[in-house]
Amino acid sequence: MEKKNIDWGNLSFAYQPIDYRYIATWKDGVWSEGTMSDDPTVQMNECAGVLHYCQEVFEGLKAYTTKDGSIVTFRPDLNAKRMADSARRLEMPVFPEERFLEALDAFVRANAAWVPPYGSGATLYVRPYMYASGPMVAVKPAPEFTFRMIGMPVGPYFKGGAKPITIRVCDYDRAAPRGTGNIKAGLNYAMSMHAQMEAHREGFDENMYLDPETRSFVEETGGANFLFVTKDGELVTPASDSILPSVTRRSLTYVAEKYLGLKVTQRKVAVSELADFAECGVCGTAAVICPVGKVVDHGKEICFPAGMEKPGPITQKLYDTLTGIQMGDIEAPEGWIRKIV
Ligand code: PLP
Ligand code: COI
Repeated sequence: MEKKNIDWGNLSFAYQPIDYRYIATWKDGVWSEGTMSDDPTVQMNECAGVLHYCQEVFEGLKAYTTKDGSIVTFRPDLNAKRMADSARRLEMPVFPEERFLEALDAFVRANAAWVPPYGSGATLYVRPYMYASGPMVAVKPAPEFTFRMIGMPVGPYFKGGAKPITIRVCDYDRAAPRGTGNIKAGLNYAMSMHAQMEAHREGFDENMYLDPETRSFVEETGGANFLFVTKDGELVTPASDSILPSVTRRSLTYVAEKYLGLKVTQRKVAVSELADFAECGVCGTAAVICPVGKVVDHGKEICFPAGMEKPGPITQKLYDTLTGIQMGDIEAPEGWIRKIV
């Protein structure tokens, strides 16, 4: 299979249509057989539920080319399960987890020419999503849903690549207590756009959201979970019921403990203790691990001693080990890599 003629090393995190997308629809309690389409447009009724009440959930994962030329995905079973959890929370039908994995295999196989080559620094970002495509105007679940899986080759999520980013403590909340912060639904991102653009206008790369109940503990950014490293080299991740359970963060805590021998703790992290940490980073499928050099809390600057110019030593080790596992250079824990081609 010949790869597409693309400047793989200079891709940003941006949409471009690729050859095929997978589509299945749900009606009367039954999912249709999936099909592969070459049409990137969507046509739907003017009263489709997604257009009025945001009944939509999505996922994000990547396909990688390994050194031996295989194409693999990373822990897609966790994305399948999280999408099912998100769907249940929004009263949407569940796309069966086994079918999600089969659709992913077929989708990546069909688009193999778009999976960036090993060593290029790029990956194929896969975006499965499901939305209320049937019409309704009363507030209730729609009569029809569509599941689609699209994808695009991408480079780094943040413009500077591995250059540390600057974050502000945000006065808006991303999630309500006992709300939908722990699922991957478009509605969480729509409400973060204003805060995101305001942060950019003020010169920040991202927002640090605080817990909506007391506004004293760290939650996450608009699209990634936080990681902190103490001065003693312990990895700390914020515990909260209103953040997204990141696949990357759950993988990194395992890698930190089992591969790097670090102590790992998940606990509430107070904003007041930020200055005590040696390193800070954000992690997610799109972000991978991006170092945070500085957090600004209403004018007060908190600079992390390691990581102002380049990633701190533990952030770098975590990045190297995780990407090594994803690209097949380091042996993965059982069940983490799904070989497709
Ligand atoms: N938090 C939010 C709000 C996200 O959108 C994402 C991206 O998926 C993450 C965290 C990271 O999750 P994952 O590592 O599963 O991609
Ligand atoms: C991902 O990392 O997969 C996401 O969905 C985050 C999004 C902000 C691009």
